[in-house]
Amino acid sequence: MRIDILTVVPELLESPFNHSILKRAKDKGLADIHIHNIRDWSSDKHKRVDDYAFSKGAGMVMSIEPIDKAISELKSQRIYDEVIFLTPDARVFTQRDANQLSLKTNLILLCGHYKGIDQRVRDHLVTLEISIGDYVLTGGELAAAIVSDAIVRLLPGVLSDETSALTDSFQDGLLTPPVYTRPADYKGWKVPDILLSGNDLLIDDWKHDQAYERTKSIRPDLLNNK
Ligand code: ADE
Repeated sequence: MRIDILTVVPELLESPFNHSILKRAKDKGLADIHIHNIRDWSSDKHKRVDDYAFSKGAGMVMSIEPIDKAISELKSQRIYDEVIFLTPDARVFTQRDANQLSLKTNLILLCGHYKGIDQRVRDHLVTLEISIGDYVLTGGELAAAIVSDAIVRLLPGVLSDETSALTDSFQDGLLTPPVYTRPADYKGWKVPDILLSGNDLLIDDWKHDQAYERTKSIRPDLLNNK
């Protein structure tokens, strides 16, 4: 899979893609991630990519021209499945979206900044809008990193068997059960006896009950969605 990220602050995205699982996915050739500075497509001599809004008091707005040029150049090189705009005024991203997007071949992620983006970008260039939650960040970069992470870790070969995405919270509509490691007794805080019993069937039942109870108490909305 290839992901092209368009941003005005590429520096913000360097670190997330150069560590841990995302880096491994890149190094193994499973995820090809390219970060582009939208200013490179600005025809302004100061490389400006924003301008005053037509409506008073609306602040600076990202201009359509450099974004259109950037997207057109990328589209002239390959076919993109989606042009995704990260913005708080959109539907909230879920595991289901991550699952679906992980099946795509080429994605463009467009990060918003300033007060907003010329609506014509959204009307004519963007095919999907995603928010990562009901709060406002200074820009779409951290959201793009989160969405990319959620997608890339699902690509075959990125995670090992033990960390398989199949056992994630949300994949079966339930939160994950608690996990423990050694020592079995720390300061009298004991690991549940059942996990030390060696009885895999009983342990699986216990894990499912725990997952269900946790979900009912912390995220009952997930049970209603089932
Ligand atoms: N940009 C600013 N806030 C955002 C959010 N919550 N989700 C996605 N992009 C954003």
